[in-house]
Amino acid sequence: MEKFDEIIDRYGTNSCKWDECREKCGKDVLQLSVADMDFRSPEEIISKMRDIVEHGVFGYTMFPQSYYTSIADWYKKRHNWEIKKEWILYSPRVGGGVSMIVQNLTQKGDGIILQTPAYPTLEEAIVKNERKLIENPLVLKDGKYRMDLTSLEKQIDEKTKIFILCNPHNPTGRVFTREELQEVVDFCFKHNLIIIADEIHCDLVFKPNKHIPIGSVKGAENISILCSSITKTFNLPGVITSNVIIPGEELRNKVKKIFDVAVYHNPNIFAAGITDIAYGKCGYWVDDVLEYIENNKNILKKFLKEFIPELEVIDSEGTYLVWINFEKTGLSDEKLQKLFLDEAGVNVYMGEHFGKTGKGFIRVNLATSRFNIEKFLNSIGKVLKK
Ligand SMILES: Cc1ncc(COP(=O)(O)O)c(C=O)c1O
Repeated sequence: MEKFDEIIDRYGTNSCKWDECREKCGKDVLQLSVADMDFRSPEEIISKMRDIVEHGVFGYTMFPQSYYTSIADWYKKRHNWEIKKEWILYSPRVGGGVSMIVQNLTQKGDGIILQTPAYPTLEEAIVKNERKLIENPLVLKDGKYRMDLTSLEKQIDEKTKIFILCNPHNPTGRVFTREELQEVVDFCFKHNLIIIADEIHCDLVFKPNKHIPIGSVKGAENISILCSSITKTFNLPGVITSNVIIPGEELRNKVKKIFDVAVYHNPNIFAAGITDIAYGKCGYWVDDVLEYIENNKNILKKFLKEFIPELEVIDSEGTYLVWINFEKTGLSDEKLQKLFLDEAGVNVYMGEHFGKTGKGFIRVNLATSRFNIEKFLNSIGKVLKK
C-alpha cells in the first residue's frame, strides 16, 4: 500500500484544496479540508486519459454502451442491486443535478427536508432556489447519529415535497442501515414525498457496514432519485461527471426532461472514456484505498484517545471524512480555528460550515498520506497540550 504513502505536491495545479485554501488561509498550511484525496487515481484510468490527450482531438462526445453496462455491473457486484441501463441519466455534477431537480419539481416556497449537519451544497440547492428548508437534525446519542422522523412529522405539511437524503452521510460518516432507510421510504411514501439520495460516497464504506442504494429499498422504486459518481470513488472530482439512477419511469421521464432543458448531453470527454475502465477494472484500487483510509482513521482515533481525549471522534462507518467533537476542550470555534491555523499550521473544516448543528465539531479529511495524518496529530497535540 506504499502507493498511498507518496507525498504529491498539489500546489500549482489549480487545486481547491491546496491552492485556493492557501489563498484563503493566507499561508502555507497542511490542508485537510476539501473532500478530495491526495492520492493518484488508478493507473488504468490515467493511462486511458493519456490516450485521450494524445489523440489530440477533443470533439463532442457520447457515452458508449459500455458506460451503462459498467455502471449496472458495478451496482450488481458491489451493492447487490440490479439496475437497468435505461434507468441511468447523466448530470455533470451531483450538486447541480440536485439543484435542477429541486428547481423544476417544486415551486418557490415548497418545503424540502434536509438532515443536518449537511454538505452545504445540498442546503444551497434548497435555499438558493427559494424553497423552504425543513431541517431535520440527526441526533447524536451514545456516539452515533440517528434519524428523528418523529419530530419531523410535526414539521411538514402539504407543501413539503422532497426529502434530501445523504448516505453515506457527509460530514458525520454514518452509513444508514436498511431498516433506517426503510423508515425514510415509508415516511416519504406516507407523505407523498420524492426522495433525492446523494450517494456520492457509496463506494467508500468500511466493513462490516454495507451501503444500501435507496432504489433497492422496498417501496422506493417510484419515488426515488439516486445520485452517484465515479468522482469520489476513484478520486476524479475534477472530471465533473455523475450518474442519476431512477427506476420509476414516470419520475425518470420528468427528470430526463429537466436535464434535457438544461442541455445535459455530451459528457466530458474524459468521463465518456474512463467510466467503464474505472468501474470495470479498478475495483481493487477502491479496496486498497479504503484499507489505507481506515488505517489512517484508526491511527487518529488511537492517538486522540491516548493524548487528546478532549477531542472525541465520532466513529465513521464510511467516507474519508471524520467528524470530531471538540467541545470538551472548552475552546470556541473561532479560538480553535485560530489555534489550528496560526500555531499548528493545519486547516480543517469547522463544523459550522455544515450548518449550526455543526458547532463544536471539526471535519478532517483522512484521504492523505500517513505522513500528513501523523503531522496533523503531532501538530495539534503540541498546541492543545501546551
Ligand atoms: C455529499 C456530497 N455530495 C456531492 C458532492 C459534490 O459532488 P459534485 O462535485 O458532483 O457536485 C460532495 C463533495 O464533497 C459531497 O460530499
